This record gives sequence, structure tokens and C-alpha cells, in this order.
Amino acid sequence: MSQSAFSYPVLSQKTYFIRTFGCQMNLHDSERVSGVLDACGCLEAAEPAEADIVIFMTCCVREAADQRLYGQCSSLKSLPAAPSGKRVVAIGGCIAQRDGERLIDKLDNVQVVFGTSAINHVAELLAHAFESDEPQVVTVEDPACDATSLPWHRETPYHAWVPIMTGCNNFCTYCIVPYVRGREKSRPIENIIDEVTGLVRTGVREVTLLGQNVNSYGRDRYGAPRFAELLRAVGETGIERIRFTSSHPKDLLPETIDAIAEVPAVMPHLHLAVQSGSTRILKLMNRRYTREDYLDLVQRVRERVPHIALTTDIIVGFPGETEEDFTETLSLARVARFSQAFTFIYSRRAGTPAAEMPDDTPRERIQDRFDRLVHVIEDTAHAFNQLDLGQVVPVLVEGVSKKDSHRLQGKSPKNQTVHAPVPEGIDPGSLVGKIVDVEVQTARTWYLAGEMRGEPR
Ligand code: SAM
Ligand code: SF4
Ligand code: F3S
Repeated sequence: MSQSAFSYPVLSQKTYFIRTFGCQMNLHDSERVSGVLDACGCLEAAEPAEADIVIFMTCCVREAADQRLYGQCSSLKSLPAAPSGKRVVAIGGCIAQRDGERLIDKLDNVQVVFGTSAINHVAELLAHAFESDEPQVVTVEDPACDATSLPWHRETPYHAWVPIMTGCNNFCTYCIVPYVRGREKSRPIENIIDEVTGLVRTGVREVTLLGQNVNSYGRDRYGAPRFAELLRAVGETGIERIRFTSSHPKDLLPETIDAIAEVPAVMPHLHLAVQSGSTRILKLMNRRYTREDYLDLVQRVRERVPHIALTTDIIVGFPGETEEDFTETLSLARVARFSQAFTFIYSRRAGTPAAEMPDDTPRERIQDRFDRLVHVIEDTAHAFNQLDLGQVVPVLVEGVSKKDSHRLQGKSPKNQTVHAPVPEGIDPGSLVGKIVDVEVQTARTWYLAGEMRGEPR
């Protein structure tokens, strides 16, 4: 489908609401779906009750997500009629890609299902759904679909998510992502650089480069530049802050560590998912590194970028995890000194190899391990933040604190949340997207707080 299809008149003045679950990939896909709908003349609604079109961008990485989607779909049935008289419910994202037609059978108020490689069809499918009661489903990969060429509705003017690749080739044994997002496909470097250059021109100050494993960027394109070169090239565009996620430890090359250390715009923050501290469990997970490899990598990164913030993902309760395995995870977290961790209880995903592994650890024991891990992460995060007491840190302002509209909130280079009172006479709204220096006076587990110094820039 070409961009000319965005002129479907039947969608003009329709109101839409999108709820997004899952990772940054989905967040970005939602920005593209909104962009397409805006280009069709639709208007964004503040809540489902005010919307003619309700779209769920779904995630299936853990089991609870399926239940949540079913609950949310059925709660739409009790809403008052849509403003236009007809409400079309659409499901996109990873559950849509996995289940396709079956969602129409399971959820009787859903009319449209579009897979992760079919977001260029969303306007066409919605338009048909308004005209007929026939279900509209597309989950096959469309070779002509290049989501990065679709219109784009960004939530924040100063930050942009920039996908550099889609899919994943790693097949970690617990993970559903490679089955729903397909194989790795890197965007050509020129495309990415053009996009970032354009973003800089429109006032974007920070980009986050996205991929399930950015460290394997370019591997699917023979002779093409790899991730370290991409970081250096993005650093030349004039963008002030570069972040990226996610990094697989087995593919973090020395030249990438050099680029992180040497490109001034690359922020001193590395999200390096470890998943477990036990070599035995890592092998069962098919992660292809050992505990020692990971800790050696952390040491090499810290030698090049001494104050780097290291964040991670950890799964607790993988099938067969023993107390000894878990103790290794706790000790790795302490040695690695994570500044933050996304901790997950293992969730069985049908169709993955781990779903067939014997799994008899009682639920309470797993919950107890999870709680102990959270305490260790709180300790390491608290200790990490103390290092910034008395320092002046440049903060990219995201908005004001929810509790106090005269307290700005933003992110430090190390991705810490920072608060500071807005000085008298300054409109807090005028600071959004500005970089302000904050002298850190308080360092808590999940945020820093201090006073603004100098002028916003
Ligand atoms: N590609 C990223 C990486 O490897 O760093 C991870 C992407 S995945 C969407 C985000 C996190 O979800 C994973 O790092 C893992 O910790 C968690 N996850 C994936 N499958 C899971 C499962 N079946 N149960 C619990 N957590 C899971
Ligand atoms: Fe899932 Fe592993 Fe791929 Fe990450 S690297 S998306 S955890 S299979
Ligand atoms: Fe979820 Fe799909 Fe992302 S399964 S975590 S939304 S790639």
C-alpha cells in the first residue's frame, strides 16, 4: 500500500484511542499508527469512551498480558455509544501477530487485527471495518511494508525512538519475541542517519536507537557498517544525546565499547540484559555466555567508561532454577552494581523450548527469590546514586513532577530521574525539552534531587 491510501475520506473526523503494552518497539509502532491516523484526518481522543476507533497494541512476552487484553476488550462493551455511532476495536502488536484470526473468534467485539509487519495497512483495514461487518485481518509480512516511511506522531518533541533493526535471531529458550517479530532485519545506515538528521533539524535533542539486540546491527547485510560505526555516524549528526537498547552481552564488541567511550553524544548508560547469574541456567536459556563472560565484559566496559550506569533484565524462577543458581544471580547483581534492573518472574510461553522443561519450583519460593532480588537491586541502585552527591549534572527536562507542578523532572546522562524546584519567575512548561544543570543534594534509590544552577539551554 502506498502513502496515497492515507486519504481515506471515511476516516476523516473519526476519533481514535491507542493503548500500548510491551516494549519500546511497540511504543514506536504506536507512534506510526497514530501518524497514519492523523494523516487520515482522525483526531486523538483522551479515553476509549470518546473514541470511534480503539486500538490495543499488544505484547505477549508474559502470560498476564493475554488476560489483560481480554479484560480490556470486554470492558469496552459497557461504554456509551461512540461519537460517530460505530466503534471499531482493533488489535495490533505481538498478540495480533501470534493469534491472527483466532482473536476475532475469541473476542466478539474486535473487528480488525493487524500484525507487526502490517501497520501500513491499518488505515485501509479500519476504513473497511466502518463500511462492513466483515472482520479485517492481516498478519502476513508485507515486503513493501517499511514502517519507517510512514507518518509519525511523536509524544515528545525533544526525544525520538529510532528503530535501527527489527526481529531477533537469538531464540533464548524462554522468549516468544523471535516467533512474533521474525528474523533480524537492519535498516540501511543512510536511512537512519537521514532520519536522525531530520530529527535534529526539528529540535530533537535525544534519540534512543531501538532493536532487540542492537549489537548485531548490520550482521544481516553483507559488508554493511556494524553498530560501532552506526554510533559514530549518529554522533556526527549533531544530536546531543544518544541512547540505545537492548544489548546482548554475547555480541558487545570491543569496538562498540570504544564508540561508547569516545562518541561524546553517547550517554554513559548501558542496558545489558544478564537474565541469570548462573552459568548452568544461562546455558539452559541459550544465552551463549557464562557468568564469568558477563562479569569480564562489565569490567572491560568500566575500564573504558568508569562511571557508566549499568542496567539489566533478570528472570527469576526459570524452570529448574535451584537456590544455588539463584544465589549466583544475587551475587552477580552485587558485583555488577546495577543502577536499575527490570526483574521478571519466569512466565511459560507455549511454543518456546523452556515451556517443555521440567518446572516444579513452588510459586511461593519463586516469589521469595524475586523479593530478595528486588532488595539487592535497591541496595545497588541506592549506592550508585550516592556517587553523584554534590555533582552538577545536566538534566534533560521531561516535565514537572506529578505531585508538585513547581518541581521539574528529567533525566541525567546516566538515565537517573532528577528533580529540582523550578526557580521563581520561570514558567515550568518553558523548561520542557531544555537541558538544565542540577547540583545534586539528595540521592535516593530511584531519583536524585537538587537545585538548578545557571541558565536552561
Ligand atoms: N532483546 C532484549 C534482550 O535480550 O535484552 C529483551 C527483550 S524482551 C522483550 C524483555 C525482557 O523480557 C527480557 O530481557 C527478559 O528478561 C523478559 N522476558 C522475556 N521472556 C520472558 C518470559 N517468558 N518470562 C519472563 N520474562 C521474560
Ligand atoms: Fe528474546 Fe533473547 Fe531475542 Fe531478547 S535476545 S528478544 S530475550 S530471544
Ligand atoms: Fe512484547 Fe512484542 Fe515487545 S512480545 S516485549 S511487544 S517485541
